[in-house]
Amino acid sequence: MKNNIAVLVSGGGTNLQALLDAEKSGIIKSGHITLVVSSKPGVYALTRAENAGIKSEILERKAYDSITEYSVAMRDLLLLNNIDIVVLAGFMTILDESFCEAFAERIINVHPALLSKNPEFGGKSFYGIKVHEAVLQSGVKTTGATVHIVTPECDRGPILLEKEVDVLEGDTPEILQKRVMEQAEWIILPQAVEILIKDSKNEN
Ligand code: GAR
Repeated sequence: MKNNIAVLVSGGGTNLQALLDAEKSGIIKSGHITLVVSSKPGVYALTRAENAGIKSEILERKAYDSITEYSVAMRDLLLLNNIDIVVLAGFMTILDESFCEAFAERIINVHPALLSKNPEFGGKSFYGIKVHEAVLQSGVKTTGATVHIVTPECDRGPILLEKEVDVLEGDTPEILQKRVMEQAEWIILPQAVEILIKDSKNEN
């Protein structure tokens, strides 16, 4: 039986789209995306889920007083939907330790930098376009993306896949973000989902 995959989003959902396309094309074959959860209403990721005929839920961070309460609500929602694998795909809220424990070794995150080589571009202050701004400010010539297993320490879990991308003369944060998505994120995130299910005890 295929694993049930939940994809957690907060924005445009281009990584969600890459996952949906990868399931269609057979790159993801051991799992089935059955749920999309957004931390924000009105985001385009929800339209992508609807277009693909995938159930979606909105779990707004600001509706909860604390990250602990939010994490419990997220855990319960995923358990209710019989979720096996959790993919953080542009999900901009850090879930707590109890959530990480409930889905231990079964949560992955895509981060738009090379965390093995440049861990300084990870952590709770670095997300979305901020990562690319920091990369350009630092002057490094190579960046990329990382998919890692999620542990309580933000962006520090074991790395599943990484892919390098060149930083080019004249790059703006937006141009670099697009190149990192196209050349790295959208490729390695679906591959990592399949690896996680295949190479672990998660295969049913
Ligand atoms: C992606 O670049 C993703 O790596 C990043 O946000 C963007 C979401 O785009 N995630 C983080 O920075 C998390 N730390 P998307 O909504 O189009 O997939």
